[in-house]
Amino acid sequence: MAPSLLAAKLACAKWRDRILAVARQKILPARTITGAVEVPGDKSISHRYAILAAIAEGVSEIEQFSAAADCRSTLDCFRRLGIEVDQRADRVRVVGKSLGGLRASSNALDAGNSGTSMRLLTGVLAGQSFRTTLDGDASLRRRPMGRVIEPLEKMGARIRSREGGLAPLEIEGAKLQPVEYTLPVASAQVKSAVLLAGLFAEGVTSVIEDVRTRDHTELALEEFGAEIAREGCAIRVTGRPKLTGRKLIVPGDLSSAAFFLVAAMILPDSRLLVHNVGLNPTRTALLDVLARMGGAVKPISVRCQNGELVGDLSVQHAPLSGGVVEGGEIAQLIDELPVLAALAPFTERGIEIRNAEELRVKESDRIAVLAENLRRMGASVEERPDGLRVEGRAAGKLRGAEIDPHGDHRMAMAFAVAALGAEGATLIRDSECAGVSYPQFFEALDRLVER
Ligand code: S3P
Repeated sequence: MAPSLLAAKLACAKWRDRILAVARQKILPARTITGAVEVPGDKSISHRYAILAAIAEGVSEIEQFSAAADCRSTLDCFRRLGIEVDQRADRVRVVGKSLGGLRASSNALDAGNSGTSMRLLTGVLAGQSFRTTLDGDASLRRRPMGRVIEPLEKMGARIRSREGGLAPLEIEGAKLQPVEYTLPVASAQVKSAVLLAGLFAEGVTSVIEDVRTRDHTELALEEFGAEIAREGCAIRVTGRPKLTGRKLIVPGDLSSAAFFLVAAMILPDSRLLVHNVGLNPTRTALLDVLARMGGAVKPISVRCQNGELVGDLSVQHAPLSGGVVEGGEIAQLIDELPVLAALAPFTERGIEIRNAEELRVKESDRIAVLAENLRRMGASVEERPDGLRVEGRAAGKLRGAEIDPHGDHRMAMAFAVAALGAEGATLIRDSECAGVSYPQFFEALDRLVER
């Protein structure tokens, strides 16, 4: 090989190694996890406050806004739609332009990795008098959007997509008709897309959900002054309300806190306090599951803030029995299932997750990615179409391995937690993907663990 070509190749390899070194996180086994932590603002609630602030009248000031890249995507989309958004650290100021105040964007909007941004914004954009193209990254382009296209087209919008209802979406806004829509999948994102579109329709739009999903949209709509009611399984919103900008505080994200709670269940002698975390009952199923398995997570100082329950969580290590997670509970801990699967090898009987086919269409195919990486760590796993069964302690101790999270934030964090209880070092490839929901996760974890 010519010397100059060799030098170029070596330089290239050096850079590649440097980039990989930055992107890889090494996790060493830990003895225990102790102390106090406050997690960033809830991702789901931050999206909703940003969206409603943009279509309300007047200024909204949002504190403890999520640090997630996903929520930044939502804010950037609104900037492109002519909304003034000022973000300083975790404070966001939005100058709302009312229901009719968004303006067409000459470029496509980029929802990045965020399914919530894409689905909820599609609901808002369906009611506009202009056309918008909404796109996302490679992962988001693989996720099903037909589930929002169908009800929004029933309401009168025209939405073009790639074959199979995939993004990019071209949304032709229209004067919308109210509908009564029964959710075919238990999805808060679909429910929210229809309710948000309902704001632009004349009359009452109803969404029927058999399985209760997170109700942050309903609570936030009420805060901004919309007329919204729940009657049994139906949620009804009255169109054309006057929404008013306001001050809001976002509770800490329980889905982010979940990684620390589970770490405390894995590591003996752990004792943790998580401050100011959201305890909305449609999100706390993880606490019920842990309690059922013998874990002790105690909510303290619970209060109501902007319609949402918030409190501190005190958790102490306890050996867990394991068990089955299935049925209606699945939708209420859908984002915590990865870390529950990672907890399974540390439980007595293992954990079985059923009725969770939705996991296959998240940021990655979470069932396949969990099975692949748990096996890399030596766990005994049976992968099923709708979930997985992971054997408990009797199957042997996990060993450190190289983990491929497939660009999925919750996979990177779930395996970092499993790695704390494994034998030997674990390398999490592409670990910066954690920033999709929790950019400071590895620093926070490092501060709390003792080795
Ligand atoms: C979310 C709802 C859930 C969840 C996602 C956030 C939301 O998705 O997995 O991380 O903010 O509404 P689905 O509604 O598609 O289940």
